[in-house]
Amino acid sequence: MTPKEAQSTSYDIVVVGAGYVGLVAAACFADLGFRVCVIDRNPDKIERLQHGVIPFFEPGLDLVVKRTIARKRLFFSPSLESVVPHAKIVMIAVGTPSQPNGKVDTHDYWKVIDAIAPLMHATALIVDKSTVPIGTAQKAMKRIARIAKKSIDVVSFPEFLREGTALDDFLKPDRLVVGAPSKKSERIMKRLIRGIRTKKIFTSLETAEMIKYASNAFLATKISFINEIANICESTGADVVDVALGMGLDKRIGTSFLRAGIGYGGSCFPKDVKALKHIAGSNHYSFKLLKSVIEVNSFQRKYFVEKIERHFRSLKGKTIAVLGLAFKGNTDDVRESASIDIINELLRKGAKVVAHDPVAETNARKVLPVTPKLIYCQTIEHAVKQADATVIATEWRTFSDANWKTLKKKMKSSLVFDGRNILDKQKMKELGFDYYSIGR
Ligand code: UDX
Repeated sequence: MTPKEAQSTSYDIVVVGAGYVGLVAAACFADLGFRVCVIDRNPDKIERLQHGVIPFFEPGLDLVVKRTIARKRLFFSPSLESVVPHAKIVMIAVGTPSQPNGKVDTHDYWKVIDAIAPLMHATALIVDKSTVPIGTAQKAMKRIARIAKKSIDVVSFPEFLREGTALDDFLKPDRLVVGAPSKKSERIMKRLIRGIRTKKIFTSLETAEMIKYASNAFLATKISFINEIANICESTGADVVDVALGMGLDKRIGTSFLRAGIGYGGSCFPKDVKALKHIAGSNHYSFKLLKSVIEVNSFQRKYFVEKIERHFRSLKGKTIAVLGLAFKGNTDDVRESASIDIINELLRKGAKVVAHDPVAETNARKVLPVTPKLIYCQTIEHAVKQADATVIATEWRTFSDANWKTLKKKMKSSLVFDGRNILDKQKMKELGFDYYSIGR
């Protein structure tokens, strides 16, 4: 779109930030019938998006983007100036990464606020999609009043999308949470989300911002809890998969997020748990539980490598096949991936690693060391045929659906460490594997 074309049109929504959250929200709102324009400071990214090229892997997203571009509902622009004045809603979806002490880095968020405030129409609304510390939306309204002499409502509309299932999560969420500072902004938000049928909760700004952190911190707590139960299962003879099912069928507990393994990763849980702990600290409260959740999560990765090391006594000179680089299945994201930590630890202990992932190799190469001791393989077969042990680090369906009977014939060793409990323990034993998993 040329700046001239942009000026001639108005937009229901302008999304700032063509990252994961921004792009999914933009494509889905465009698919619901809104006119949406996405802005990103990276002109190459915008150029590629205009041709329907998505910068990350998310099942189905390319189809929705192409469809909404063709229907002239989704547009892209590299500049705020040409589109923000024509927007009814400006949705902020820029990254808010963690600083080393867990504090949220909101630098990019404030840069956007300062840039859009003078450009926005006085009746327009800002919607926070970025995860920001509690109190940020209120601060933003005060800042806009000061710097742009305008009274613009800032709404908190947290996202709960999971990578790999984002489109489904967007259209069929368990609930939508909206923190609105006025009746007017609440009405606008109600119209925006009319097409999504689910429970809708309208709260204060601070409550909505807290719901996001509390939800992610609670889910991470569930994972660390079941991982500790798994570690005790190993020494007591209980099976954590059945324990989780037995616990989870109690409706008060619920079966989801009780899969024991090598811990949680990704762009949200690690960052948000650390952030909430930090936010508590800055409010003179020590969140002891979250401190343990974080500790358990990093321990779980080390403990897994120690288990492999104990088996061999020393990992020096051993070749380990690592299946999975992404932080979970169905994504190419390797941020805070347990697999990356495990590979680094295996290399540190003197092992050679042969790694395979269906889609995350390119991203993994950017964060893993370049060394002849780390080789990437195109297929599962290639990785396992030369290994002294096989490690499953990501819950990819291609690993659980693989024909392990046929694979075994090609494998140098029948030793398998399943860090995600994705294989059938009994069947693996019957096939003659030396099979170790988590808490079983
Ligand atoms: C998460 C939240 O689910 C989502 O609501 C929020 O908006 C963003 O963060 P995502 O990071 O995409 O989504 O991944 P999710 O599917 O929640 O898994 C997070 C991590 O926990 C993964 O590493 C996964 O392997 C791990 N996990 C998940 C477990 O170890 N056990 C489980 O039972 C569930």
